[in-house]
Amino acid sequence: MFVSTGPNIDDIQSAALADIAAADTLDALEQARVRHSGRKSALAGVLAGIGALPPDQRGTVGKGANIVRQAIEVALNERHHALEADQLAASLSADRVDITLPGDPIRAGAQHIVTQLWNEIEEIFIGMGWQIADGPHVEDDFHNFTALNIPEGHPARAETDTFYITGGHGTVLRTHTSPVQVRVMETQEPPIFAVMPGAVYRNEDIDATHGAMFHQLEGLAVDEGLSMAHLKGMLQHFVHELLGPTFEIRLRPDYFPFTEPSVEVDVLWTDRNGRQTWLELLGAGMVDPNVFAHCGIDPERWTGFAWGMGLERVAMLRHGVSDLRLLFDADLRFLEQFGDAGNVR
Ligand code: PHE
Repeated sequence: MFVSTGPNIDDIQSAALADIAAADTLDALEQARVRHSGRKSALAGVLAGIGALPPDQRGTVGKGANIVRQAIEVALNERHHALEADQLAASLSADRVDITLPGDPIRAGAQHIVTQLWNEIEEIFIGMGWQIADGPHVEDDFHNFTALNIPEGHPARAETDTFYITGGHGTVLRTHTSPVQVRVMETQEPPIFAVMPGAVYRNEDIDATHGAMFHQLEGLAVDEGLSMAHLKGMLQHFVHELLGPTFEIRLRPDYFPFTEPSVEVDVLWTDRNGRQTWLELLGAGMVDPNVFAHCGIDPERWTGFAWGMGLERVAMLRHGVSDLRLLFDADLRFLEQFGDAGNVR
């Protein structure tokens, strides 16, 4: 092949540079590369033909062809970088996250009103230096009854509708939180100041005020020289902290096998219409010396008081809920009413 019959070297260069400049994708550029600097390109033809030229032309043609080859390579490289940069910029802008778009809403949970109350009461007693204690929900006869001065055949056993564990020889679902008192006294030396919240179980027909499972919060103080005055003063303080400084309490005589004397504690409740009524809040009393004896605590030296309250009852009072079952139905339309972000922990 002779240069004189092939394309002019300047034409080769300008055609190549124009094609390279026009390549708008990396694929198109690759095609331009094959076309203008590949083995079958016009330029390759010129270079291959140099050896066949008359010796006096070889230098000039070779030099010119090399300059063109370099120019094409430089153009290819530059175009390659430019297209890569364009591609990167395009994918960056296509994949960009718009942080100003509103996010998917996260539904904030809220604590159940019984849990709210439970936590508030714990806080009040922790503030007074009391401890929180826990015990098993499946109890033995001794802790649920006998140690609490409720021996076999005692009418109180028949009064509480107990769930018995089949084949459990007196093993029960605890009917109150009072067995935790026993467990605390068995394992700790007085003085003892403890509150014991948790679920309790009774084989009740479920209605607006009765459930087969509900929650109690028990309190126990054991020290030297405790009296009903301490019990009353502590409960008054507790009610002021929980409900507000204007809430009065009163004590009425009552009976529990494990306290002597025993009282029912009422709170003077003002309803939404401003009407005041005494409402039963909890049961309490001075720890019966027999209970101390069952727990290995010397009744001659130590005195104590205890109380137990139903958490659902108080939560219902506070929030004006008229049916206990609403607290257990897990109906979000009901529960969300009490969804106060401030209560989410
Ligand atoms: N355990 C009693 C109940 O379930 C409540 C109570 C506890 C009463 C402690 C007095 C002292 O009804």
